[in-house]
Amino acid sequence: MTVAIEMGHTTAGAPATLDLEELLATRLLVQGNSGSGKSHLLRRLLEQSAPWVQQTIIDPEGDFVALTDRFGHLLIDAEDHTERGLQVAGERARIHRVSTVLNLEGLDAENQMRRAAAFLGGLFEVDRDHWYPMLVVVDEAQLFAPAVAGEVSDEARKLSLGAMTNLMCRGRKRGLAGVIATQRLAKLAKNVAAEASNFLMGRTFLDIDMARAADLLGMERRQAEAFRDLERGQFMALGPALSRRPLGLRIGRTDTTPRNATPRLMPLPEAKLDARAIILAAPPPENNRPQRRSSPDLLGQLMAAKTAALEIRPEAVEQPLSAEKLAERRERARRHGGTRRGIPCYWRPLSGVRGPLPNRGPRFGSAGPG
Ligand SMILES: Nc1ncnc2c1ncn2[C@@H]1O[C@H](COP(=O)(O)OP(=O)(O)OP(=O)(O)O)[C@@H](O)[C@H]1O
Ligand SMILES: [Mg+2]
Repeated sequence: MTVAIEMGHTTAGAPATLDLEELLATRLLVQGNSGSGKSHLLRRLLEQSAPWVQQTIIDPEGDFVALTDRFGHLLIDAEDHTERGLQVAGERARIHRVSTVLNLEGLDAENQMRRAAAFLGGLFEVDRDHWYPMLVVVDEAQLFAPAVAGEVSDEARKLSLGAMTNLMCRGRKRGLAGVIATQRLAKLAKNVAAEASNFLMGRTFLDIDMARAADLLGMERRQAEAFRDLERGQFMALGPALSRRPLGLRIGRTDTTPRNATPRLMPLPEAKLDARAIILAAPPPENNRPQRRSSPDLLGQLMAAKTAALEIRPEAVEQPLSAEKLAERRERARRHGGTRRGIPCYWRPLSGVRGPLPNRGPRFGSAGPG
């Protein structure tokens, strides 16, 4: 069965379609700078394909929450669930074939990565009886599959990158079709980007991103320069589910809207304010603000470490010998032939070290203390 999803119109005015069956087997990468219209494009794809295929959206900004009202997707606020809970939720979503939006808004980067990885893990690990086709859309994919280590822990990065690699490299047999969007191709892990065979390239300005795009699409770098001239909502399509030759298209309108619309220019208020008095008024009392986690008690830790160090018994240091004892030892050592200039090696002070060395056994000299 061929299901043609209408994405919009080509620059020549013909309907621009996407073959859903083919997409399931060949995945999609969407790239374009901020504001180029990637999330709008994903929304169009999700809305048009919702009646045909189960979907899940990994949504770092809460942009796709409106799909829950209009198309019945289950909204999962990742903030309210543990990693284990999300993994099980992922498995159950596949077993019961429920479309979902995983809203990661409000979490820090580390937790966004961990929880997305847990949920994707659940989708991936489900028993083979439930390997039905499913679109897995990841917006801002560079957050979950970064090309280089960032400020998050190595463990979180490994989990998230592993889940994204599984989705894009090993998901097809399990029915998972990855659709990923990124602002910066150069920031997305290469192995994750390379597994998509379909591309929708939007407005791109940086040379480094254009070079990556040209490499991926097998274009001359000169040709990729055309991505600079694309308008918001315009994309260049290429791939088995889209077009065998690069094709310019404009994405059509959507039924739902993002929660956070782009702020529009508005005239500034005309009324004159006493800006100094308002902006620099005394701040409200501290306890009205969210509690900050107290900084670690560094002084206490240092004191504890010092006490522990004092409790370690120092090595026994030999007391200096009396003149008589010293003469007696020299004589004994001379008789055994183990001295240099009459002083046992063991006793020779090193330069800069005053008094006898701590007793470290025979390693320090062939002649023992006798
Ligand atoms: N084809 C289109 N038709 C009408 N409006 C569009 C179209 N594409 C994008 N827009 C509008 O342009 C704005 C920016 O689009 P969008 O949020 O999709 O950009 P983005 O590429 O996802 O940016 P970011 O990377 O910052 O998330 C939105 O208000 C969106 O509704
Ligand atoms: Mg977006």
